[in-house]
Amino acid sequence: MARKPARFSGGARLGVSGALVFRSRAGTGDAAIMHPPLDTDEYDVALEQVANSLSKARRVVALTGAGVSAESGLATFRGADGLWEGHRIEDVATPSAFQRDPALVWRFYNARRANLRTVQPNPGHRAFVELEDRLVKRSGGDGAGAFTLATQNVDGLHRAAGSRRVLELHGSLQRVRCTRCSHLAATDEALPDLPHCPQCGHLLRPDVVWFHEMLPAEIWREAAQATAICECFLVVGTSAIVYPAAGLIDAARAAGAMVVEINPEATSASRRGGLALRGRSGEILPQLMQRLRGEKT
Ligand code: OAD
Repeated sequence: MARKPARFSGGARLGVSGALVFRSRAGTGDAAIMHPPLDTDEYDVALEQVANSLSKARRVVALTGAGVSAESGLATFRGADGLWEGHRIEDVATPSAFQRDPALVWRFYNARRANLRTVQPNPGHRAFVELEDRLVKRSGGDGAGAFTLATQNVDGLHRAAGSRRVLELHGSLQRVRCTRCSHLAATDEALPDLPHCPQCGHLLRPDVVWFHEMLPAEIWREAAQATAICECFLVVGTSAIVYPAAGLIDAARAAGAMVVEINPEATSASRRGGLALRGRSGEILPQLMQRLRGEKT
């Protein structure tokens, strides 16, 4: 299947290009000001408020990032352990890095692909499955649009947990594609440092989006459209500094959605308003599901 890079065309409100870019914290303002840590009572009230919003919303979108998989044992990109062999993600996840040193880039991705074989979805991933089931069931019909999970993660753990409507904005580590022909294949197997296309013999690359590349057009359009009409938008486990994904947060606010951040730390998303639940997604999301089931946590 040929994948043509495409310009962003969906979600007029979003007003951002579909090319992957990184914006530094300096460019987005002081992240820590909007949400001082909540004390236990405040946390409880906020949790109830979010559960209440989820129980009423007809359309919910969640944007997830590496933090959701942290409790499965996968390192985040920008944490203390966020470097790989001394390289920042922005130095290995680019077309020019691949051109310069494809073996280095493949070693980076092969190490991450090997890690995937050792990890399982965590309670945070499973809570999203429960949320989707609940919203789809409540919507009565086919559930289309009741819940959309837009993820920046390329680890496949949302799908492995059982989430159905998953939009993989940055592609998947479990797919490879040819740098020359249209060959695209799913593979979990270990690959050499320089894997070659079984069809034309040219170099394969991981089917992930690199910095300066366009997001897959249809997936991005669906994410933008779902965001433009959602009533509740969850921002979970992401530093919210990689665009265009992080732009969905502003689009959700523009659409009048209640924006809820779940993250142990304040991020670039925090200063944009909404509610913050400070803590791990693998703990907070199951607590939210308990509230939705009517069980007090
Ligand atoms: P980051 O590493 O930038 O951010 C991870 C976020 O997860 C941080 O804000 C942490 O505070 C938070 N976090 C850590 N543990 C958590 C937990 N248990 N529960 C909830 N949150 C937790 O990762 P992303 O925001 O996903 O792109 O990065 C976005 C993109 O940048 C990635 O998709 C990747 C990277 O470059 C590409 O590779 C194309």
